[in-house]
Amino acid sequence: MLEFSGISKSYAKSPVKAVDGLELRVADGEIFGFLGPNGAGKTTTIKLLTGVLRPDAGRMDIDGIDIAAEPLRAKRRFGYVSDNPELFARLKAYEYLNFVADVFGVSSLDRQQRIDHYAGLFEIKDVLHGSIGSFSHGMKQKLLVIASLLHDPANWILDEPMVGLDPKSAFALKEIMRQRSRDGKLVFFSTHVMEVAEKLCDRIGIINKGRLIFSGSVAELRAAQGADSSLEKLFLELVDDEAEAQP
Ligand SMILES: Nc1ncnc2c1ncn2[C@@H]1O[C@H](COP(=O)(O)OP(=O)(O)OP(=O)(O)O)[C@@H](O)[C@H]1O
Ligand SMILES: [Mg+2]
Repeated sequence: MLEFSGISKSYAKSPVKAVDGLELRVADGEIFGFLGPNGAGKTTTIKLLTGVLRPDAGRMDIDGIDIAAEPLRAKRRFGYVSDNPELFARLKAYEYLNFVADVFGVSSLDRQQRIDHYAGLFEIKDVLHGSIGSFSHGMKQKLLVIASLLHDPANWILDEPMVGLDPKSAFALKEIMRQRSRDGKLVFFSTHVMEVAEKLCDRIGIINKGRLIFSGSVAELRAAQGADSSLEKLFLELVDDEAEAQP
């Protein structure tokens, strides 16, 4: 379970808040899609949630653990895929996976099974002995996804995870999300792909200029906007309405 209570963050020298008073709760078993225009505050929110950044105000709980007060305990409860798959270029892929598994204290049997399973799904088993520096963007992305699942976290947090994945790998990623949700685990991810959000997510959140302007199901968004449109259209209308209301 994820809970944001009054989270705000400004970057140094910036007069505007990158995230402004965020209130949000995501339940176990939910697939939650986080949408918003470029610069809306999605990555900042995810960096706050994962403890990469500290908020100016508010608190965030992961399975009831305050990430600011108990970062190590909270970090055991989630896996994180950042939007930038720049990894240790000199390490071989399996060395990196073993390093991450060591950090999380994953047994040799579990790590072997999980690496086999996910590397099989993403078809990168035969390149795990290669160095990360020689990997393509998509291969690095897959490696980051596998690493984030080695400790089988209850919460999975991903920042634009589909970017750079080929169709088959994007399908595999969505299947893993669905499976985790069926197992009662939480998935929170940002995306610009409306179709993915519409088909995959139980609920979505829309952020604009740091403020959460909607959270709920796509059906609820449709009802609120009074239109039987695609999520893409609803999204564009909502973000436009906001721009008119707050020039
Ligand atoms: N390191 C930084 N220093 C200063 N300002 C930043 C920094 N990172 C982000 N910002 C600002 O914070 C705001 C939110 O940025 P953020 O990266 O969270 O947006 P985003 O929703 O993830 O956008 P995108 O869809 O392009 O990934 C933007 O106005 C951006 O310019
Ligand atoms: Mg971003």
